[in-house]
Amino acid sequence: MLRVDEAQEPVEFSPVLISKFDEIVSRYPQGKQKSGLLPILHLVQAEFGWVSAPAMDKVAEYLSILPIEVYEVATFYTMYFLRPQGKYVLEVCRTSGCCLVGAEKIMDHIEETLGVKEGEVTPDGLFSWRGVECLAACGFGPVLQIGPEYTFYENLTNESVDKLISDLKAKAKN
Ligand code: FES
Repeated sequence: MLRVDEAQEPVEFSPVLISKFDEIVSRYPQGKQKSGLLPILHLVQAEFGWVSAPAMDKVAEYLSILPIEVYEVATFYTMYFLRPQGKYVLEVCRTSGCCLVGAEKIMDHIEETLGVKEGEVTPDGLFSWRGVECLAACGFGPVLQIGPEYTFYENLTNESVDKLISDLKAKAKN
């Protein structure tokens, strides 16, 4: 949920990030710069880890549109994080196909292993997790994905989840 009442740090977009915005906008006819909103929000999220209200305001300013036009898009698509998240966000499919083969138990295991509830961040800042709708890998459930590359992990078991978490911890140290 978008909480614009929370104190949020102002953000500045780097020249490199702005040049990426420019490249996106250049793909569209003049005056249709708003068409670049989705990929621009992805870039913002990749840069800052989430999409804050000040960041959305800046995007609106860049695109010469109203802030509400950015808010309504960012709050509609669940792939945009409206709160700070861990470095790795484990997104577990919670739709019926995966639930039939144990997705809820996998989410329970993740919660217990990480020690945080859905949407929270581990104290080391490394992990968040959440349930998401069908990831279109229904024959391989339970399944989770991890952005920003949206790598898939299929046929999950408690053991494979443990290995994934420990591999990610090791990766974060390098
Ligand atoms: Fe889980 Fe479709 S039901 S991927």
